[in-house]
Amino acid sequence: MGFPQTRMRRLRRTGTLRRMARETVVQRDDLILPLFIVEGSGVRDPVASMPGVERYSVDVLRDEAKAVQDLGIPAVILFGVPEEKDARGSGADAADGIAQRAVETVKAAAPDLVVMTDVCLCEYTDHGHCGIVDDEQVSNDPSVQRLAQSALSHARAGADVVAPSDMMDGRVEAIRGLLDSQGFEDVVLLSYAAKFASAYYGPFRDAAESTPSFGDRRSYQMDPPNRREALREMKLDLAEGADALMVKPALPYLDIVSDARREFDVPIAAYHVSGEYAMIHAAAERGWIDGERAMDEALVAIKRAGADWILTYAARDVAARLG
Ligand code: PBG
Ligand code: ZN
Repeated sequence: MGFPQTRMRRLRRTGTLRRMARETVVQRDDLILPLFIVEGSGVRDPVASMPGVERYSVDVLRDEAKAVQDLGIPAVILFGVPEEKDARGSGADAADGIAQRAVETVKAAAPDLVVMTDVCLCEYTDHGHCGIVDDEQVSNDPSVQRLAQSALSHARAGADVVAPSDMMDGRVEAIRGLLDSQGFEDVVLLSYAAKFASAYYGPFRDAAESTPSFGDRRSYQMDPPNRREALREMKLDLAEGADALMVKPALPYLDIVSDARREFDVPIAAYHVSGEYAMIHAAAERGWIDGERAMDEALVAIKRAGADWILTYAARDVAARLG
């Protein structure tokens, strides 16, 4: 039946009707807050390119973790930013490394928070690549060994979820195998499965001090035009033992999120990355858009496309707005 019997505007007439007709709602339990941890004490270091985001030392993290838990946010993902870097990324699997101490701190301060760790080498290597470099090339198999050791060290520190973000081939199987052989069969593996070589990571690399000193990440991260290849990546990671899959960035890749939702029954995460966050804040600061509405619209779009979990630097703002 068409117009005039059908009038689409009827269900939009009042706020309450619109609430009742709403198909998608972002909830606290959808949110994962990324946190950057630095050395020192009493440090709250604002990230210039990410308004509202600060890097914390471990002692400050203790209070912040409690505050995040009190807001009802279920999970954080921790990024260690070490002072010392070397060619093999020794800090990535050091028992007393920055990420490992951060995990212990959050687990002790906020036992109900799910603690996720980003597993990668780029924050820990002096060249800033996500793996081991040999003759200016990122060498896959040696990188996988280091990544597995890093994931194991995070599990030993108490991580509930490890999330490899490096895009090396075979790392999910290697990590799962090592975790299981060492008694960590209950640690969840969230794979950054469809991670694209994106311009939107710029502000993150300021925060994590992980800009490559030469070249770029295009020999390991995905080529942005490739949609079918993203499905292959995700299938492979599931076959290797991933419990959940991530698509990254989020808004420019909603077709990938939608494909993932349709094809797979595992939880699908989408990372609304630093550049996506920064753009909204930059435009809002100029008075060009309403930042809160733009952020809410971005997150509901990500959920509407099929994401179960949204990694967002706005998690605290959004949780506070939910009342
Ligand atoms: C590390 C990593 C990156 C991000 C998450 N983990 C950066 C990169 O791959 O260069 C990006 C997150 C963001 O931009 O918010 N491999
Ligand atoms: Zn990396």
